[in-house]
Amino acid sequence: MASSIIILAAGRGTRMKSKKPKVMHEISGKPMLFHAIDAATSMSDDVIVVLYHEAETIRSAIEREYKGIRFHIQDAANFPGTGGALRGIEIANDRAIILNGDMPLVTKDSLLQLVDGASDIAMSIIELDNPLSYGRVVIIDGKVEKIVEKKDCNAEELEIKSVNAGVYGVTKDVLDKYIPMLSNDNSQNEYYLTDIVKMAKDDGLRIAPVYVQEEEYMGVNSKLDLSAAEEIMQKRIRDYWMTQGVSMRLVETIYIDSDAVFEGECMLENGVTILGDTKIIDSHIKSHSVIENAQIKDSTIGPMARIRPDTKLIETHIGNFVEIKKSTLNGVKAGHLSYIGDSQIDSGTNIGAGTITCNYDGVNKYKTIIGKDVFIGSDTQIIAPVTIEDNVIVAAGSTVTKDIKSGALAISRAPLKQIDNFFYKFFKKEK
Ligand code: UD1
Ligand code: CA
Repeated sequence: MASSIIILAAGRGTRMKSKKPKVMHEISGKPMLFHAIDAATSMSDDVIVVLYHEAETIRSAIEREYKGIRFHIQDAANFPGTGGALRGIEIANDRAIILNGDMPLVTKDSLLQLVDGASDIAMSIIELDNPLSYGRVVIIDGKVEKIVEKKDCNAEELEIKSVNAGVYGVTKDVLDKYIPMLSNDNSQNEYYLTDIVKMAKDDGLRIAPVYVQEEEYMGVNSKLDLSAAEEIMQKRIRDYWMTQGVSMRLVETIYIDSDAVFEGECMLENGVTILGDTKIIDSHIKSHSVIENAQIKDSTIGPMARIRPDTKLIETHIGNFVEIKKSTLNGVKAGHLSYIGDSQIDSGTNIGAGTITCNYDGVNKYKTIIGKDVFIGSDTQIIAPVTIEDNVIVAAGSTVTKDIKSGALAISRAPLKQIDNFFYKFFKKEK
Protein backbone atom coordinates (compact mmCIF):
# COMPACT_ATOMS: atom_id res chain seq x y z
CA MET A 1 0.00 0.00 0.00
CA ALA A 2 1.47 3.32 -1.06
CA SER A 3 1.91 5.97 1.61
CA SER A 4 2.88 9.57 1.22
CA ILE A 5 5.43 10.74 3.77
CA ILE A 6 5.26 14.13 5.47
CA ILE A 7 8.38 15.27 7.32
CA LEU A 8 7.86 18.13 9.78
CA ALA A 9 10.85 20.45 9.79
CA ALA A 10 9.42 23.95 10.26
CA GLY A 11 10.22 24.39 13.94
CA ARG A 12 12.96 26.69 15.13
CA GLY A 13 14.69 24.20 17.40
CA THR A 14 15.62 26.70 20.11
CA ARG A 15 16.93 24.00 22.47
CA MET A 16 19.83 23.45 20.06
CA LYS A 17 21.18 26.92 20.98
CA SER A 18 22.59 27.40 17.50
CA LYS A 19 22.33 29.77 14.54
CA LYS A 20 22.07 26.73 12.31
CA PRO A 21 18.54 25.31 11.78
CA LYS A 22 18.10 22.29 14.04
CA VAL A 23 17.41 19.77 11.28
CA MET A 24 20.61 20.80 9.44
CA HIS A 25 22.87 19.66 12.28
CA GLU A 26 24.91 16.74 11.03
CA ILE A 27 25.03 13.16 12.14
CA SER A 28 27.67 10.96 10.52
CA GLY A 29 28.46 13.63 7.93
CA LYS A 30 24.89 14.37 6.86
CA PRO A 31 22.18 16.79 8.11
CA MET A 32 19.80 14.90 10.38
CA LEU A 33 16.91 15.83 8.10
CA PHE A 34 18.64 14.04 5.20
CA HIS A 35 18.70 10.78 7.17
CA ALA A 36 14.92 11.07 7.56
CA ILE A 37 14.55 11.93 3.85
CA ASP A 38 16.67 8.87 2.94
CA ALA A 39 14.33 6.61 4.90
CA ALA A 40 11.30 8.34 3.34
CA THR A 41 12.47 8.21 -0.29
CA SER A 42 13.41 4.54 0.07
CA MET A 43 9.72 3.68 0.53
CA SER A 44 7.59 6.44 -0.99
CA ASP A 45 7.33 8.41 -4.23
CA ASP A 46 5.47 11.27 -2.51
CA VAL A 47 7.68 12.89 0.11
CA ILE A 48 6.67 16.31 1.46
CA VAL A 49 8.92 18.38 3.72
CA VAL A 50 7.22 21.08 5.80
CA LEU A 51 9.38 24.18 6.32
CA TYR A 52 9.10 27.65 7.81
CA HIS A 53 12.15 28.77 9.81
CA GLU A 54 15.12 29.13 7.44
CA ALA A 55 12.90 27.61 4.75
CA GLU A 56 15.01 28.82 1.81
CA THR A 57 18.32 27.61 3.27
CA ILE A 58 16.95 24.18 4.02
CA ARG A 59 15.03 23.88 0.78
CA SER A 60 18.03 24.68 -1.40
CA ALA A 61 20.23 22.26 0.59
CA ILE A 62 17.65 19.51 0.00
CA GLU A 63 17.31 20.34 -3.70
CA ARG A 64 21.07 20.03 -4.17
CA GLU A 65 20.93 16.41 -2.94
CA TYR A 66 17.48 15.10 -3.84
CA LYS A 67 15.10 15.23 -6.80
CA GLY A 68 11.31 15.17 -6.59
CA ILE A 69 10.81 16.20 -2.96
CA ARG A 70 7.75 18.41 -2.44
CA PHE A 71 7.80 21.36 -0.05
CA HIS A 72 5.04 22.88 2.03
CA ILE A 73 5.61 26.20 3.76
CA GLN A 74 3.75 26.33 7.06
CA ASP A 75 1.68 29.42 7.92
CA ALA A 76 3.45 29.44 11.25
CA ALA A 77 2.42 32.98 12.21
CA ASN A 78 -1.26 32.02 12.24
CA PHE A 79 -1.03 28.27 12.80
CA PRO A 80 2.01 27.39 14.88
CA GLY A 81 2.60 23.83 16.07
CA THR A 82 2.82 20.36 14.58
CA GLY A 83 -0.88 20.41 13.67
CA GLY A 84 -0.57 23.84 12.05
CA ALA A 85 2.29 22.41 10.00
CA LEU A 86 -0.12 20.06 8.21
CA ARG A 87 -2.75 22.64 7.23
CA GLY A 88 -3.29 22.75 3.48
CA ILE A 89 -1.19 19.71 2.57
CA GLU A 90 -2.62 17.55 -0.20
CA ILE A 91 -1.16 14.04 -0.25
CA ALA A 92 -0.99 11.94 -3.42
CA ASN A 93 -1.87 8.62 -1.76
CA ASP A 94 -4.67 7.24 0.44
CA ARG A 95 -2.42 7.19 3.51
CA ALA A 96 0.45 9.20 4.91
CA ILE A 97 3.20 8.62 7.41
CA ILE A 98 4.00 11.75 9.39
CA LEU A 99 7.33 12.03 11.11
CA ASN A 100 9.54 14.72 12.60
CA GLY A 101 12.59 16.01 10.78
CA ASP A 102 14.57 15.67 14.00
CA MET A 103 14.50 11.86 13.89
CA PRO A 104 17.72 10.88 12.16
CA LEU A 105 17.62 7.27 13.35
CA VAL A 106 14.41 6.19 11.61
CA THR A 107 14.82 3.51 8.96
CA LYS A 108 12.57 2.22 6.23
CA ASP A 109 11.79 -0.84 8.37
CA SER A 110 10.83 1.28 11.34
CA LEU A 111 8.52 3.46 9.23
CA LEU A 112 6.88 0.43 7.60
CA GLN A 113 5.59 -0.53 11.05
CA LEU A 114 3.28 2.48 10.85
CA VAL A 115 1.69 1.39 7.57
CA ASP A 116 -1.34 -0.41 8.94
CA GLY A 117 -4.26 -0.82 6.58
CA ALA A 118 -6.60 -1.90 9.38
CA SER A 119 -6.40 1.34 11.38
CA ASP A 120 -7.34 4.95 10.79
CA ILE A 121 -4.41 6.15 12.87
CA ALA A 122 -1.37 4.05 13.75
CA MET A 123 0.70 5.82 16.36
CA SER A 124 4.18 5.07 17.64
CA ILE A 125 4.68 4.57 21.37
CA ILE A 126 7.90 4.19 23.33
CA GLU A 127 8.00 2.81 26.87
CA LEU A 128 10.45 4.88 28.90
CA ASP A 129 11.45 4.76 32.55
CA ASN A 130 12.12 8.47 32.31
CA PRO A 131 9.50 9.93 29.93
CA LEU A 132 11.42 13.24 29.66
CA SER A 133 9.66 15.93 27.58
CA TYR A 134 7.75 13.53 25.34
CA GLY A 135 3.94 13.72 25.07
CA ARG A 136 2.24 11.16 27.34
CA VAL A 137 -0.10 8.58 25.79
CA VAL A 138 -3.19 7.87 27.88
CA ILE A 139 -4.12 4.23 27.34
CA ILE A 140 -7.18 2.71 28.99
CA ASP A 141 -7.89 -1.04 28.67
CA GLY A 142 -5.28 -1.30 25.91
CA LYS A 143 -6.99 1.45 23.89
CA VAL A 144 -5.33 4.77 23.10
CA GLU A 145 -7.49 7.58 24.49
CA LYS A 146 -5.42 10.68 23.84
CA ILE A 147 -1.96 12.25 23.86
CA VAL A 148 -1.19 14.93 26.43
CA GLU A 149 1.82 17.19 25.96
CA LYS A 150 4.08 17.33 28.99
CA LYS A 151 3.31 21.00 29.55
CA ASP A 152 -0.42 20.21 29.69
CA CYS A 153 -0.16 17.12 31.94
CA ASN A 154 -1.73 16.82 35.37
CA ALA A 155 0.28 15.12 38.15
CA GLU A 156 -1.14 11.70 37.32
CA GLU A 157 -0.45 12.01 33.57
CA LEU A 158 3.12 13.11 34.22
CA GLU A 159 3.78 9.65 35.67
CA ILE A 160 2.77 7.86 32.46
CA LYS A 161 5.69 5.91 30.97
CA SER A 162 4.13 5.35 27.52
CA VAL A 163 5.17 8.28 25.38
CA ASN A 164 4.40 9.52 21.88
CA ALA A 165 7.36 8.85 19.60
CA GLY A 166 5.89 11.36 17.13
CA VAL A 167 5.43 9.14 14.07
CA TYR A 168 1.95 8.42 12.80
CA GLY A 169 0.39 6.47 9.96
CA VAL A 170 -2.92 8.10 9.02
CA THR A 171 -5.52 7.92 6.28
CA LYS A 172 -6.09 10.82 3.92
CA ASP A 173 -9.60 11.09 5.37
CA VAL A 174 -8.21 11.60 8.87
CA LEU A 175 -5.93 14.39 7.67
CA ASP A 176 -8.59 16.10 5.59
CA LYS A 177 -11.17 15.96 8.37
CA TYR A 178 -9.28 16.64 11.61
CA ILE A 179 -6.42 18.99 10.75
CA PRO A 180 -8.82 21.90 10.00
CA MET A 181 -10.68 21.15 13.27
CA LEU A 182 -7.65 21.51 15.57
CA SER A 183 -7.65 24.31 18.13
CA ASN A 184 -4.81 26.03 19.96
CA ASP A 185 -6.48 25.92 23.34
CA ASN A 186 -3.48 24.64 25.34
CA SER A 187 -0.56 25.88 27.39
CA GLN A 188 1.60 26.70 24.33
CA ASN A 189 -1.25 28.16 22.20
CA GLU A 190 -0.15 25.86 19.40
CA TYR A 191 -2.10 23.62 17.07
CA TYR A 192 -1.09 20.15 18.26
CA LEU A 193 -1.14 17.33 15.73
CA THR A 194 -1.43 15.02 18.71
CA ASP A 195 -5.02 16.20 19.33
CA ILE A 196 -6.28 14.34 16.24
CA VAL A 197 -5.96 11.12 18.25
CA LYS A 198 -8.65 12.03 20.77
CA MET A 199 -10.92 13.50 18.08
CA ALA A 200 -10.67 10.36 15.96
CA LYS A 201 -11.18 8.11 18.97
CA ASP A 202 -14.32 10.06 20.02
CA ASP A 203 -15.69 9.52 16.51
CA GLY A 204 -15.15 5.78 16.88
CA LEU A 205 -12.23 5.49 14.48
CA ARG A 206 -9.58 2.76 14.91
CA ILE A 207 -6.37 3.86 16.66
CA ALA A 208 -3.58 1.28 16.58
CA PRO A 209 -0.77 1.61 19.14
CA VAL A 210 2.56 0.55 17.63
CA TYR A 211 5.26 -0.05 20.22
CA VAL A 212 8.70 1.01 18.96
CA GLN A 213 12.28 1.29 20.18
CA GLU A 214 13.78 4.61 21.20
CA GLU A 215 16.96 3.67 19.28
CA GLU A 216 15.07 4.32 16.06
CA TYR A 217 12.59 7.01 16.98
CA MET A 218 14.60 9.23 19.23
CA GLY A 219 13.95 12.95 18.68
CA VAL A 220 17.05 15.16 18.65
CA ASN A 221 16.31 18.45 20.40
CA SER A 222 19.63 19.43 21.96
CA LYS A 223 23.34 18.96 21.41
CA LEU A 224 23.26 16.30 24.09
CA ASP A 225 20.67 14.37 22.06
CA LEU A 226 22.78 14.98 18.94
CA SER A 227 25.79 13.26 20.44
CA ALA A 228 23.67 10.35 21.70
CA ALA A 229 22.17 9.90 18.22
CA GLU A 230 25.64 10.09 16.68
CA GLU A 231 26.84 7.22 18.83
CA ILE A 232 23.90 5.05 17.80
CA MET A 233 24.40 5.94 14.13
CA GLN A 234 28.14 5.24 14.28
CA LYS A 235 27.54 1.84 15.83
CA ARG A 236 25.09 1.03 13.03
CA ILE A 237 27.53 2.13 10.34
CA ARG A 238 30.47 0.20 11.83
CA ASP A 239 28.40 -2.93 12.46
CA TYR A 240 27.16 -2.85 8.88
CA TRP A 241 30.66 -2.61 7.38
CA MET A 242 31.97 -5.35 9.65
CA THR A 243 29.23 -7.64 8.32
CA GLN A 244 30.52 -6.73 4.83
CA GLY A 245 34.04 -7.92 5.69
CA VAL A 246 35.81 -4.83 7.06
CA SER A 247 38.05 -5.60 10.08
CA MET A 248 38.17 -2.98 12.82
CA ARG A 249 40.53 -2.74 15.76
CA LEU A 250 38.99 -1.11 18.86
CA VAL A 251 35.80 -0.33 16.93
CA GLU A 252 34.53 2.37 19.25
CA THR A 253 37.48 4.60 18.40
CA ILE A 254 36.69 4.51 14.67
CA TYR A 255 34.51 7.13 12.95
CA ILE A 256 32.93 6.53 9.53
CA ASP A 257 30.63 8.93 7.64
CA SER A 258 27.40 7.53 6.26
CA ASP A 259 28.41 7.92 2.60
CA ALA A 260 31.74 6.06 2.89
CA VAL A 261 31.99 2.73 1.04
CA PHE A 262 34.28 -0.29 1.47
CA GLU A 263 34.91 -3.20 -0.86
CA GLY A 264 36.88 -6.41 -0.56
CA GLU A 265 38.93 -6.97 2.57
CA CYS A 266 39.80 -3.80 4.41
CA MET A 267 41.38 -3.25 7.82
CA LEU A 268 40.80 -0.14 9.91
CA GLU A 269 42.99 0.30 12.96
CA ASN A 270 42.01 2.26 16.06
CA GLY A 271 41.36 5.99 15.82
CA VAL A 272 40.80 6.01 12.05
CA THR A 273 38.42 8.69 10.64
CA ILE A 274 36.76 8.14 7.26
CA LEU A 275 34.87 11.18 5.92
CA GLY A 276 32.64 12.08 2.98
CA ASP A 277 32.32 10.07 -0.21
CA THR A 278 35.39 7.96 0.45
CA LYS A 279 35.75 4.58 -1.23
CA ILE A 280 38.28 2.08 0.10
CA ILE A 281 39.02 -1.22 -1.61
CA ASP A 282 41.27 -4.01 -0.24
CA SER A 283 43.37 -1.60 1.83
CA HIS A 284 44.84 -1.28 5.31
CA ILE A 285 44.34 2.03 7.12
CA LYS A 286 46.62 2.29 10.14
CA SER A 287 45.85 4.05 13.38
CA HIS A 288 44.83 7.71 13.60
CA SER A 289 44.73 8.36 9.88
CA VAL A 290 42.10 10.76 8.49
CA ILE A 291 40.71 10.15 5.02
CA GLU A 292 38.22 12.47 3.29
CA ASN A 293 36.51 12.17 -0.10
CA ALA A 294 39.27 9.92 -1.44
CA GLN A 295 39.54 6.67 -3.35
CA ILE A 296 41.99 4.09 -2.10
CA LYS A 297 42.69 0.69 -3.62
CA ASP A 298 45.22 -2.02 -2.72
CA SER A 299 47.15 0.40 -0.49
CA THR A 300 48.43 0.85 3.07
CA ILE A 301 47.95 4.22 4.73
CA GLY A 302 49.38 5.64 7.94
CA PRO A 303 49.68 5.53 10.87
CA MET A 304 48.80 9.23 11.27
CA ALA A 305 48.42 10.08 7.61
CA ARG A 306 45.98 12.62 6.20
CA ILE A 307 44.40 11.91 2.84
CA ARG A 308 42.37 14.89 1.64
CA PRO A 309 39.64 15.31 -1.01
CA ASP A 310 40.05 14.27 -4.64
CA THR A 311 42.92 11.93 -3.95
CA LYS A 312 43.22 8.58 -5.69
CA LEU A 313 45.72 6.02 -4.39
CA ILE A 314 46.33 2.70 -6.11
CA GLU A 315 48.87 0.10 -4.94
CA THR A 316 50.50 2.82 -2.92
CA HIS A 317 52.17 2.98 0.48
CA ILE A 318 51.65 6.15 2.52
CA GLY A 319 53.49 6.36 5.85
CA ASN A 320 53.33 8.51 8.95
CA PHE A 321 52.78 12.29 8.80
CA VAL A 322 52.15 12.36 5.08
CA GLU A 323 49.44 14.70 3.76
CA ILE A 324 48.04 14.19 0.28
CA LYS A 325 45.53 16.44 -1.49
CA LYS A 326 43.93 16.30 -4.95
CA SER A 327 46.53 13.88 -6.28
CA THR A 328 46.70 10.54 -8.06
CA LEU A 329 49.43 8.11 -6.96
CA ASN A 330 49.69 4.74 -8.65
CA GLY A 331 52.32 2.30 -7.37
CA VAL A 332 54.13 4.90 -5.25
CA LYS A 333 55.87 4.87 -1.85
CA ALA A 334 55.77 8.00 0.33
CA GLY A 335 56.83 6.74 3.72
CA HIS A 336 57.44 9.78 5.89
CA LEU A 337 56.69 13.44 6.56
CA SER A 338 55.60 14.81 3.19
CA TYR A 339 53.05 17.12 1.59
CA ILE A 340 51.86 16.11 -1.84
CA GLY A 341 49.23 18.35 -3.48
CA ASP A 342 47.83 18.71 -7.01
CA SER A 343 50.14 15.94 -8.17
CA GLN A 344 50.20 12.93 -10.41
CA ILE A 345 52.85 10.34 -9.59
CA ASP A 346 53.49 7.11 -11.47
CA SER A 347 54.55 3.58 -10.56
CA GLY A 348 57.87 2.58 -9.01
CA THR A 349 58.48 6.09 -7.72
CA ASN A 350 59.79 6.69 -4.20
CA ILE A 351 59.12 9.97 -2.43
CA GLY A 352 61.81 10.61 0.19
CA ALA A 353 61.13 11.84 3.72
CA GLY A 354 60.29 15.51 3.95
CA THR A 355 59.41 16.03 0.29
CA ILE A 356 57.11 18.98 -0.36
CA THR A 357 55.27 19.85 -3.52
CA CYS A 358 55.13 23.65 -3.42
CA ASN A 359 51.83 23.87 -5.28
CA TYR A 360 50.70 27.35 -4.24
CA ASP A 361 52.31 30.70 -5.03
CA GLY A 362 49.91 32.70 -2.86
CA VAL A 363 47.46 33.23 -5.73
CA ASN A 364 47.16 30.09 -7.83
CA LYS A 365 47.68 26.34 -7.46
CA TYR A 366 49.88 24.40 -9.88
CA LYS A 367 50.41 20.75 -10.83
CA THR A 368 53.36 18.49 -10.21
CA ILE A 369 53.81 15.53 -12.55
CA ILE A 370 56.30 12.79 -11.67
CA GLY A 371 56.88 9.79 -13.94
CA LYS A 372 57.82 6.14 -13.38
CA ASP A 373 60.74 4.82 -11.29
CA VAL A 374 61.76 8.25 -10.04
CA PHE A 375 63.80 8.54 -6.85
CA ILE A 376 63.05 11.77 -4.99
CA GLY A 377 65.70 12.23 -2.27
CA SER A 378 64.76 13.41 1.21
CA ASP A 379 63.95 17.06 1.90
CA THR A 380 63.22 17.96 -1.69
CA GLN A 381 61.04 20.93 -2.60
CA ILE A 382 59.29 20.63 -5.92
CA ILE A 383 58.17 24.07 -7.14
CA ALA A 384 55.09 23.56 -9.33
CA PRO A 385 54.20 23.70 -12.15
CA VAL A 386 56.83 21.11 -12.97
CA THR A 387 57.23 17.77 -14.70
CA ILE A 388 59.81 15.18 -13.66
CA GLU A 389 60.02 12.52 -16.36
CA ASP A 390 60.62 8.75 -15.90
CA ASN A 391 63.89 7.33 -14.49
CA VAL A 392 65.10 10.45 -12.71
CA ILE A 393 67.10 10.84 -9.51
CA VAL A 394 66.57 14.00 -7.52
CA ALA A 395 69.35 14.42 -4.95
CA ALA A 396 68.41 14.93 -1.32
CA GLY A 397 67.95 18.55 -0.32
CA SER A 398 67.27 19.79 -3.84
CA THR A 399 64.87 22.51 -4.92
CA VAL A 400 63.39 21.52 -8.27
CA THR A 401 62.43 24.65 -10.19
CA LYS A 402 62.29 23.35 -13.75
CA ASP A 403 61.28 20.25 -15.70
CA ILE A 404 63.71 17.30 -15.46
CA LYS A 405 64.39 15.08 -18.48
CA SER A 406 64.19 11.30 -18.40
CA GLY A 407 67.36 9.57 -17.13
CA ALA A 408 68.86 12.69 -15.45
CA LEU A 409 70.16 13.47 -11.99
CA ALA A 410 68.74 16.72 -10.62
CA ILE A 411 70.77 18.29 -7.87
CA SER A 412 70.69 21.77 -6.41
CA ARG A 413 72.87 22.23 -3.38
CA ALA A 414 75.11 24.92 -1.98
CA PRO A 415 78.64 23.43 -1.95
CA LEU A 416 79.64 22.15 1.49
CA LYS A 417 82.46 24.08 3.17
CA GLN A 418 84.59 22.61 5.93
CA ILE A 419 86.42 24.99 8.30
CA ASP A 420 89.00 23.10 10.33
CA ASN A 421 89.03 23.46 14.16
CA PHE A 422 86.22 26.04 14.10
CA PHE A 423 84.49 24.24 17.00
CA TYR A 424 87.36 24.82 19.44
CA LYS A 425 87.65 28.50 18.58
CA PHE A 426 83.89 29.11 18.78
CA PHE A 427 83.38 27.44 22.14
CA LYS A 428 86.79 28.45 23.47
CA LYS A 429 87.64 24.85 24.29
CA GLU A 430 90.95 23.02 24.32
CA LYS A 431 91.45 20.63 21.47
C1 UD1 B 1 6.32 16.37 19.54
C2 UD1 B 1 4.96 15.85 20.01
C3 UD1 B 1 5.16 14.99 21.26
C4 UD1 B 1 6.12 13.87 20.97
C5 UD1 B 1 7.44 14.40 20.38
C6 UD1 B 1 8.27 13.23 19.87
C7 UD1 B 1 3.31 17.53 19.38
C8 UD1 B 1 2.42 18.62 19.84
N1 UD1 B 1 4.09 16.95 20.28
O1 UD1 B 1 6.84 17.19 20.60
O2 UD1 B 1 3.89 14.47 21.69
O3 UD1 B 1 6.37 13.15 22.16
O4 UD1 B 1 7.20 15.26 19.25
O5 UD1 B 1 9.54 13.64 19.45
O6 UD1 B 1 3.28 17.19 18.21
N2 UD1 B 1 7.44 21.49 13.76
C9 UD1 B 1 6.88 22.13 12.67
N3 UD1 B 1 6.11 23.22 12.86
C10 UD1 B 1 5.85 23.70 14.10
C11 UD1 B 1 6.41 23.05 15.22
C12 UD1 B 1 7.20 21.94 15.01
O7 UD1 B 1 7.09 21.71 11.53
O8 UD1 B 1 5.14 24.72 14.21
C13 UD1 B 1 8.31 20.34 13.52
C14 UD1 B 1 9.69 20.54 14.11
O9 UD1 B 1 10.57 21.10 13.15
C15 UD1 B 1 10.09 19.15 14.50
C16 UD1 B 1 8.77 18.44 14.75
O10 UD1 B 1 7.77 19.23 14.16
O11 UD1 B 1 10.79 18.47 13.47
C17 UD1 B 1 8.49 18.24 16.22
O12 UD1 B 1 8.51 19.50 16.86
P1 UD1 B 1 9.09 19.66 18.32
O13 UD1 B 1 8.95 21.06 18.72
O14 UD1 B 1 10.42 19.01 18.41
O15 UD1 B 1 7.98 18.78 19.09
P2 UD1 B 1 8.14 18.14 20.51
O16 UD1 B 1 7.96 19.20 21.54
O17 UD1 B 1 9.37 17.34 20.55
CA1 CA C 1 11.11 16.90 19.10
